[in-house]
Amino acid sequence: MPDGLNVDYDGLIPNNVGLAGDARVRKALETWHPGYIDWWKVRGPDGFNDALVYLRTAVSVDPSGWAKFGFVRMPDYKWGILLAPAVEDRRIPFGRHRGEPAWQEVPGEYRAMLRRLLVIQGDTEPASVEQQRHLGATAPSLYDLRNLFQVNVEEGRHLWAMVYLLQKYFGADGREEAEELLRRSSGDQDTPRMLGAFNEATPDWLSFFMFTTFTDRDGKMQLEALAQSGFDPLSRTCRFMLTEEAHHMFVGESGVGRIIARTCEAMRDAGIDDPTDIAAVRRLGVIDLPLIQRKINLHFSLTLDLFGNEISTNAANAFNAGLKGRFREHTLTDDHQLAGDTYPVLRLIDGAVVREDVPALSSLNMRLRDDFVDDTQGGVGRWNKIIARHGLDFRLALPHVGFNRRIGEFARAQIDPAGHIMGAASWQAARDDFLPTAADGDYLATLMRPVREPGGFAGWIAPPRLGIDNKPGDFEYVKIHD
Ligand SMILES: [Fe+2]
Ligand SMILES: [Fe+2]
Repeated sequence: MPDGLNVDYDGLIPNNVGLAGDARVRKALETWHPGYIDWWKVRGPDGFNDALVYLRTAVSVDPSGWAKFGFVRMPDYKWGILLAPAVEDRRIPFGRHRGEPAWQEVPGEYRAMLRRLLVIQGDTEPASVEQQRHLGATAPSLYDLRNLFQVNVEEGRHLWAMVYLLQKYFGADGREEAEELLRRSSGDQDTPRMLGAFNEATPDWLSFFMFTTFTDRDGKMQLEALAQSGFDPLSRTCRFMLTEEAHHMFVGESGVGRIIARTCEAMRDAGIDDPTDIAAVRRLGVIDLPLIQRKINLHFSLTLDLFGNEISTNAANAFNAGLKGRFREHTLTDDHQLAGDTYPVLRLIDGAVVREDVPALSSLNMRLRDDFVDDTQGGVGRWNKIIARHGLDFRLALPHVGFNRRIGEFARAQIDPAGHIMGAASWQAARDDFLPTAADGDYLATLMRPVREPGGFAGWIAPPRLGIDNKPGDFEYVKIHD
């Protein structure tokens, strides 16, 4: 049943896009499927293909109840093609075609631009699965192990979502791009993933939780912008992806929060009230708050680079074309075309950080990045409340947006986390105060020991307040030997 809330589970590929009646696309997807499963087994979660994992699977796109939970072997997960319900008489919400009926087919003049947007988004999805491939070996609990795998299978589904659009609307080119999405590989020398942050290692669970807090939130912002698209199948695809994405950021933010809670608790029990007494805190086998700050500095700055150049003609073109909008475009009250408008952009001019009004169309990347920073602040505030509740005098903060950047206005500047411009030599000398060090990595590695008895947790992380799907604390979320 196309466009329905319920998902057709009869064929190989669950879907609500009427695949049963679309032989061409069904064949393309079924041809791609074995390569995907090979990719999952070789570059997905290492060593857990036979484990039974308590996963949620989408069985509907009804916002009030779209998932069911059950034990699944990950290679048997029902990766499906799910679009949010069509909005009747939907109109293009922004750009030069504003007010025209939303496109159900790709407009010829924007074909190349749209294909590029799909490929870039699609590339990030399998990349994060590859980056997280080895984390199963060191999970601090079965609860966390299950959450990792839930994120992984859903990123796999997000790849399916983009591959469907490529194969349905881009013919042979689309099939070629779908193959390439399985060929590139995170961190590979010759065929890396397309964006920098998706080629970084995720060596430990603190990195994983930071990645899901910050980098998955970039994913959310990009999906929000694409959910506005005048190309209706993309809009509907992204709207459903966003319902899954929320869980990824929950995993990240609550994971970091539980690490902070455990650190504060252990310090209080041991009578240590100086968070900067690293040696004393590490003797307790927990993660010191200054190291958590350095990890924030790293993951936040890597993620900001994903928004691209602050001033960008590509972003202006995609907006004018009606392909990629702004965060919550429908709640904004301007003319949604922005021809004469300006937007304040932070720039580096004559060695100083200044705010300059720039044409609004050229500064859409900056605007989305600002929305991202706002969205991120809330989580940091909640982390600080945990610290305050334990009576410790320490505050975590996001670094300045110019800190440690590789792309955009600040790529060539040395700026400290507080926003001061520094000379290259003094920045280097202070580097180890700003960013995680090799010694930090070594310390974290000593903590990364798997805990696999139901209800058990590693000593550096507090248990969650609630189980997944309201399961009790000792629920066996992953049955490893079965
Ligand atoms: Fe995703
Ligand atoms: Fe995600």
